Amino acid sequence: MSDKHLHFSYFKRRRLHLGVCGSIAAYKSADLLRAWITADIHVSATLTAAAAQFISPLTFRSLGAMPVYDSLWHNTENPFEHLEPGQTAHAMIIAPASAQTLSRLATGAASDMLSTQALAFDGPLVIAPAMNPRMWLHPATQENVATLRQRGAHIVLPEQGSTACGDLGQGRLADQHTLYLAALRALAPQDMCGLRILVTLGPTRESWDAVRFWSNPSTGRMGASLVTAAWLRGATVEAVCGPGCPVLPDTVRRHDVTSAREMHAAANDLWDQMDMGFFTAAVADFSPIPTGAAKFKKEQAQNGFTVQFTPNPDILRDLAQRRKAHQKVLGFAAETSEDLAACVQRKLKSKGADIIVGNRINEAGSGFATSTNSVLIADRNGREEQWLQQNKSDIAWDLCTWLLNL
Ligand code: CTP
Repeated sequence: MSDKHLHFSYFKRRRLHLGVCGSIAAYKSADLLRAWITADIHVSATLTAAAAQFISPLTFRSLGAMPVYDSLWHNTENPFEHLEPGQTAHAMIIAPASAQTLSRLATGAASDMLSTQALAFDGPLVIAPAMNPRMWLHPATQENVATLRQRGAHIVLPEQGSTACGDLGQGRLADQHTLYLAALRALAPQDMCGLRILVTLGPTRESWDAVRFWSNPSTGRMGASLVTAAWLRGATVEAVCGPGCPVLPDTVRRHDVTSAREMHAAANDLWDQMDMGFFTAAVADFSPIPTGAAKFKKEQAQNGFTVQFTPNPDILRDLAQRRKAHQKVLGFAAETSEDLAACVQRKLKSKGADIIVGNRINEAGSGFATSTNSVLIADRNGREEQWLQQNKSDIAWDLCTWLLNL
């Protein structure tokens, strides 16, 4: 399994139809196909005649797309191929989408296999245009995009930059991670749509002098999995990230902070507008009392020295204490103790959370900087479960489901 993208078991055997149009960016869709296939998504594909000039249908067959549709008139044995994605696929993505196909889709012209399939498809449709910047800015293209958006298509805008033709401007196909996630979002249940969720993630860094700080090994992976799971399911997510957190879906609002106090202030400002809070950050409970703005020199302490610490605010406890009745709170408990269940129950009460997810940070395949976790989860209603050695992304997905049902 590739580490580049998060994988959620939910998407296994979900069915995606990929349309590819004539653009130099067509070669990028082969990589995208591979990413979805690696995530166990069933992908079928249609290349327009122009796309097949840039990249062979055999490439898509070889990478696992099934079936790969040809022209409208090629298969005389099955005259209804143009209707198949409409009957079998859960979502359709056209990447890259050319000006020509945008025009066909906007006017309902069923003049080739892809446009006919799109017309006969009533599920979620994602369109990622790529073309020369002047073609993109032309009013005809812009009107077609506006029409498609207004009809409910999700448009993944092309990026700014230099295009293959040498022009500079907006026209490059959106990046692979954005498109990978856009298709997943189209395949996901939108059961968190309308919910606003605050997530704290990653470590905090408490500086001591000009070059030294106090921190921990958190990478923000568990938090990023929760951000992504909630976002895929339609939530609006505000992510307050400590240093070094992973890339998040690009419509997630990201607030980068460094210290526990900055994280507290950012979370505090957002909290009143939120429906849920996922407090996953490994917040430093104490900050060293700084020596000053300069670098501490070793001549100042040739026989060693003592650093004093002051306590930081407990973000989770503070926000849980002043929550409104509808606001749900999920926290974590990073533990090395043998009795994880007791620690989790203690934190459930002392923090005032609805759910506490206890994870053993001293076990292989669990805790900081791993893709898996072993957790013991308890909620305020007395439900308790243990999930051992599961992917953090699947844990995140199932925690969202748990919270929705609480
Ligand atoms: N937390 C927080 N602010 C802090 C400390 C912790 O918001 N200053 C949150 C964490 O994000 C996590 C939960 O509280 O959701 C528990 O964190 P953990 O480090 O396990 O426990 P602590 O409260 O720090 O207590 P201890 O270190 O004594 O176990």
